[in-house]
Amino acid sequence: MRLGVCYYPEHWPEEMWAGDARQMAEIGLSCVRIGEFAWARFEPEPGRFEWAWFDRAIDTLHGEGLGLILGTPTATPPKRLIDRHPDILAQDAHGRPRRFGSRRHYCFSSETYRRECRRIVSEMVKRYGEHPGVVMWQTDNEYGCHDTVESYSPAAKAAFRLWLKDRYGEIDALNDAWGTTFWSQTYRSFDEVDLPGATVTEANPSHRLDFQRFSSDQVARFNREQVDIIRQHSPGREITHNFMGAFTAFDHHKVGADIDIATWDSYPLGFLDLSPVPDDLKRYWLRQGHPDFQAFHHDLYRGCSHKWGVMEQQPGPVNWAPYNPAPLPGMVRLWSLEAMAHGADLVSWFRWRQVPFAQEHMHAGLQRPDGEPAPAYEEARQVAEDVARLGMMQPGQADVALIFDYEGQWTHMVQPQGRGMDLLRQTFDAYSALRSNGLSIDILPQSADLSDYKLIVLPGLPIIQDALVDQIRSSRAQVVILPRSGSKTGTFQIPPELPPGKLRSLSGVKVVRVESLRPSIIETAHWAGGELRIVNWREHLELPPPDSELGVHVEARFADGAPFWVESDNIHYLAGWPDPDTAFNLSGIFAKRAGLEPRPLGLSLRLRRIGRLEFAFNYGLETEPLEGLLPETPDFILGGPTLPPAGVAAWRS
Ligand code: GAL
Repeated sequence: MRLGVCYYPEHWPEEMWAGDARQMAEIGLSCVRIGEFAWARFEPEPGRFEWAWFDRAIDTLHGEGLGLILGTPTATPPKRLIDRHPDILAQDAHGRPRRFGSRRHYCFSSETYRRECRRIVSEMVKRYGEHPGVVMWQTDNEYGCHDTVESYSPAAKAAFRLWLKDRYGEIDALNDAWGTTFWSQTYRSFDEVDLPGATVTEANPSHRLDFQRFSSDQVARFNREQVDIIRQHSPGREITHNFMGAFTAFDHHKVGADIDIATWDSYPLGFLDLSPVPDDLKRYWLRQGHPDFQAFHHDLYRGCSHKWGVMEQQPGPVNWAPYNPAPLPGMVRLWSLEAMAHGADLVSWFRWRQVPFAQEHMHAGLQRPDGEPAPAYEEARQVAEDVARLGMMQPGQADVALIFDYEGQWTHMVQPQGRGMDLLRQTFDAYSALRSNGLSIDILPQSADLSDYKLIVLPGLPIIQDALVDQIRSSRAQVVILPRSGSKTGTFQIPPELPPGKLRSLSGVKVVRVESLRPSIIETAHWAGGELRIVNWREHLELPPPDSELGVHVEARFADGAPFWVESDNIHYLAGWPDPDTAFNLSGIFAKRAGLEPRPLGLSLRLRRIGRLEFAFNYGLETEPLEGLLPETPDFILGGPTLPPAGVAAWRS
């Protein structure tokens, strides 16, 4: 695993660069990301470029043996460009332009902006593409950050109409797909279709889903334009984009397919503060973060591209969450090694030194603003030593496949049907339940090859692809289908055969009624193994007649006798959303049926196997004995048989 840091030479006097580069190399870093916000310094006047300072920065860093990750600067179009071409600005649903003065103030559909980006990226890549120090390119920075995927500009409207024409061919096909006969929404031509914002009450859900698909495609196209230029002029260098946590507004699988390494920006404490986790847990994990949040994204982004890594790792308090505590000593090391245990190719801290000015001056770095080490500095050095001790690790396939896709998430977001319900959250809850049983998990799109998995979990994907149905049909894995799976067609309608649509022929069940329930409501179901608790969502099922070909067996019933858990051979359908304890218990049961060995871990201890190595991480505030989880004579590479808070152990198994 490579270690790196994000650095902004333009923020510091040039006399400091050489010392910074030396220290980076000295603590064991091998790469440094630079350049992603420096457009105004690269091109101070239209067509007049100033590369000399950047040449010197690159040479100074490369001179210490650091590999350069160059960011294209397209997340920050300079003021003079905006003043000259206001059509670059994205617009909100009411047609108000987003203003200059922060970042990401551009519309993905602006032809002017696309042209400008091709120009600046070409200039930059032609200049540095073959520099021996350049190892990787990052396109833009965090597509979609600050809610910037959708734009309601005239350019977006024109492009959306073309996109619709391409998808539907004839306007009547669109009218059918969207059900526009409802509320007199019928269109006579594609030129009549507007963007679905600022309507009196909710806009047509099929319209909204298509707008989300379109907006996502605009991001992928924007990214691909940069990728094509980089591939042409910078042969042999990897291309990445830095994705975010808990962010789903564009299809990361699509963008991931065009790049070489999917990276993401991991801020465990900021994310915990923003998350819907109950307050008592937020207090307990205040300085550690949620024990599954980082791993979930590691496993999600591993499924998005050929390789993956962490481009920005939190080093201390950040500036952007409602509250910004400091990590417990040791956590910066733990988070970094946890990425390694999930197969990361790169971990890079954000940022080298805390900057004393502008929006992020309260965001910690590895160094304080005065250049003295911040607490994370020594932890980064320690990680470099740990990585050297651990040596090469090859990530293998996990035993459990959890299926997630972005289209499914958009479908839930467009019409949640119950407040707070969303597919990402359901997928995370399922992940957490499985991982608390000590299982290693791959999070995969519907198109992934599922043939070698022992347990496959569908956490509620509404739109199911035929290919997934075929794979499940031929699979001998235990397959768990959670409610809302297969509940919509691709055009956001109820499937003619009723939910779970294409999954009906496998599961045998037909969903004839659904209910969403406020959080205080708990339904129970009785099972031979104990009581099960169901929250948020309940379905009413019709089962096939007893003489039908597909034999089903009811494993558990709701208190009123209606089926909750229906089994058809290796396929299990659950007609309600299990609460966390029930999800944990059921995950263990399904794992056993799949021939796996669940290892219940409690609130804050987590394990991860990679090749012949097993890692343990303690996100809790108490020391955790590893007894019962270790082989007879464990060969420890890191840590030992008891794990202090923020402790990491790794042993050969
Ligand atoms: C990320 C972003 C960085 C920086 C960082 C602060 O979202 O990519 O540029 O703003 O957050 O935590």
